[in-house]
Amino acid sequence: MNYTAALIGTGRIGFSLGFDKKREQPASHTMALLQNKKIDLIAGCDSDEEKLDAWKNFVSKKSHRKDIKTFQTSESLFASVHPDIVTVAVNENSHLSECINAINSKPKLVILEKPVALDSLEAEKIRLATQKNNVPVMVNHERRFSADYVAAKEFLSKIGEIQSVKANLFSGLRVYGEKYEASGAYSLLHDGTHLVDIVHFLTDEELKNPIVTGIFKDEQGDVRNFEAHFETKKIPEITVSMSGRSKFFAFEIDVLGTLGRICVGNGYAKYYLREESKLYSGFYSLTNQKIKLPKKTGYFSNMIQNAVDFLDGKSTLKSPLEDAIKDLRVLEEIRALLKDENSASIRSATNCR
Ligand SMILES: NC(=O)c1ccc[n+]([C@@H]2O[C@H](COP(=O)([O-])OP(=O)(O)OC[C@H]3O[C@@H](n4cnc5c(N)ncnc54)[C@H](O)[C@@H]3O)[C@@H](O)[C@H]2O)c1
Repeated sequence: MNYTAALIGTGRIGFSLGFDKKREQPASHTMALLQNKKIDLIAGCDSDEEKLDAWKNFVSKKSHRKDIKTFQTSESLFASVHPDIVTVAVNENSHLSECINAINSKPKLVILEKPVALDSLEAEKIRLATQKNNVPVMVNHERRFSADYVAAKEFLSKIGEIQSVKANLFSGLRVYGEKYEASGAYSLLHDGTHLVDIVHFLTDEELKNPIVTGIFKDEQGDVRNFEAHFETKKIPEITVSMSGRSKFFAFEIDVLGTLGRICVGNGYAKYYLREESKLYSGFYSLTNQKIKLPKKTGYFSNMIQNAVDFLDGKSTLKSPLEDAIKDLRVLEEIRALLKDENSASIRSATNCR
């Protein structure tokens, strides 16, 4: 059985990242939907007419269909077509309205870009709409589908008791500023959702009651650094660390066990176990284990395949809405502490000089 699909938002993740020659492809919803043999991409929507025209030209050629439909609002799209899958890839501040519109059109599945929404009040409205209409939503936290992270999760059972988890995101984007809450254009929400989600995915632990240290604010008062520390019954130290003043981009997680260690980040994956040391008699050292990984991580195509398998009744959703809402709650707890002007942990650009 084939499934029809429509895309709301033909911007970077919706469309144009699919042309980035350095990225593992498919790297956009359009390319991933087109590549899946069980999906017919039939319609697209974007408020930007120019982007929409470019998208229609490309998709018509690629799919050899002359009847690809385009619309500048999702309301007009749903009045005309009724796709089985609706992908929502608009900017954060439109996730609520566009996801609700998609759910109300009663497709078989909605694929929603991360983060779920600007805050958990909005996320709760989405959750209620899914319940009322009985429409499942999956969220594109892509690392859950990526072979290197899936292998890390499988490898975890070999590294003994977990001593610590460190998850880092380093970029040049501000981490948090109150004035960006309405647009969602800050890294705590934008990238932090991936960081918290991968900790949840790998450990199955619930992150709660963080202690936040190392807050650094720039001259505009925007947060540029912080570390959030969590402890759970099983893991004594989980650190989520973000920088927004790095002149490079890095995403990485390091899990230290009593028998081994896992280090996975953008472009690398290392899986270590203790073995008799080659360097010192009577000692054990960590030795890199050769894990066979596919050439491609499949982060995007596996996500779309999970959607198809779910619709075929062969799999559960690997990145369900509920999990993504938990991620958002953690980010909100951190955000509340970053907003606390009296925090002893705050250093600023001015008092550092
Ligand atoms: N999973 C990932 O790794 C990843 C990567 C990049 C972006 N994203 C997420 O994807 C979403 C989009 O990001 P982007 O970088 O593609 O942004 P973008 O600005 O490039 O694209 C968004 C598109 O949505 C359109 N749009 C916005 N509101 C709309 C509306 N109400 N109706 C119709 N069209 C509308 C815009 O015109 C634009 O073309 C964001 O939530 C972002 O966080 C996820």
